[in-house]
Amino acid sequence: MTDVIRVDPAHPDAAALAHAADCLRRGGLVAFPTETVYGLGVHALDRAAVRRLFEAKGRPANDPLIVHVDAVERIHTLVSAVPDVVAALSARFWPGPLTLVLPRSPHVPDEVTAGLHTVGVRVPAHPVARALLGAAGIPVAAPSANLFSRPSPTRASHVLDDLAGRIDLVIDGGATDVGVESTVLDLSGDVPTILRPGAVSREMLRAVLPRVEQRSAAASSSGAMPSPGMLERHYSPRAPLTVYDGDAVARLVRDACAAIAEGHRIGIMAADEDRAALSDVERHGSRATIVYLGSERDLATVASHLYAALRELDASGVDRILVRSFPGSEGLAVAIQDRLRRAGVKPVA
Ligand code: TXA
Ligand code: MG
Repeated sequence: MTDVIRVDPAHPDAAALAHAADCLRRGGLVAFPTETVYGLGVHALDRAAVRRLFEAKGRPANDPLIVHVDAVERIHTLVSAVPDVVAALSARFWPGPLTLVLPRSPHVPDEVTAGLHTVGVRVPAHPVARALLGAAGIPVAAPSANLFSRPSPTRASHVLDDLAGRIDLVIDGGATDVGVESTVLDLSGDVPTILRPGAVSREMLRAVLPRVEQRSAAASSSGAMPSPGMLERHYSPRAPLTVYDGDAVARLVRDACAAIAEGHRIGIMAADEDRAALSDVERHGSRATIVYLGSERDLATVASHLYAALRELDASGVDRILVRSFPGSEGLAVAIQDRLRRAGVKPVA
């Protein structure tokens, strides 16, 4: 049985959170909203509970977890060294959607770090996450609260679709804000390296760090992964997905109409700007489901709708998904392209 508690996202009820915090302290699995996506929380120092979490998600044991705390001071028991740059990074970006990978302390179980010599730590900004961490008084390891290889959940209903009956509690605090997972920045090597792009962009990090690299190499399938975001297909819907580069909307429309003529049921993710171009497809009514993610000039809105759209199209039973890409080499465009690329096949144009 999975309990659901609904809370006001801005002012969560203290008694409800005390109950959830107690569940965490006793080794329970509690899903909660963060500003990025819903996390599935567990007591980070309770090995048996962490093992149950991997089982509930169907997650491979070589995929490390991020440990969440409610203030930068609390990372000291989790890490063995704090590079000087952490002060400036945490002052600027915490609480917020940035995960720092640092040398781990021996207190952190191998189950959390997948045996790596580093640990990912983050101070989330969502009021519910902050209040829960404060009430629990323990470090909370939390991957995204989805089944392995499903899109991350941005609403409590997504968590329940994947994990009802497999976890103890879901705190429903409404839709999350950012919609894509935190930026993962590895500070354990010589050069700070982005392992997973997110809302804290490379340009934003450069304001604090003189040098930041973006990692692109694919991870090997054996051994611990530097970041499973490196797996080619990680965030995948059930239907095959094709990404069309920004100016290829005409081609997307042509392919969509051809697929419908062959009897397929198709789903399309598009920008608000594509409405006129898609009117031909709209005429096919029930054979096409179109989701508009937002304006291509408002990537924050696009990112916040991305995973819900993937889930909606999957649930609607379409057998192909066609997506218009959102071009750009800065800011959220990098994170959106990264998630689309991983959810789908190679771009066709
Ligand atoms: O926004 C987020 O980061 C969400 C919310 C719940 O905080 N969490 C999340 O967790 O997306 P998860 O487990 O789905 O993704 C964590 C990412 C993975 O790519 C993982 O490999 C990487 O962080 N990571 C964690 N610890 C690491 C480590 N020690 N070294 C390298 N990468 C690490
Ligand atoms: Mg995940």
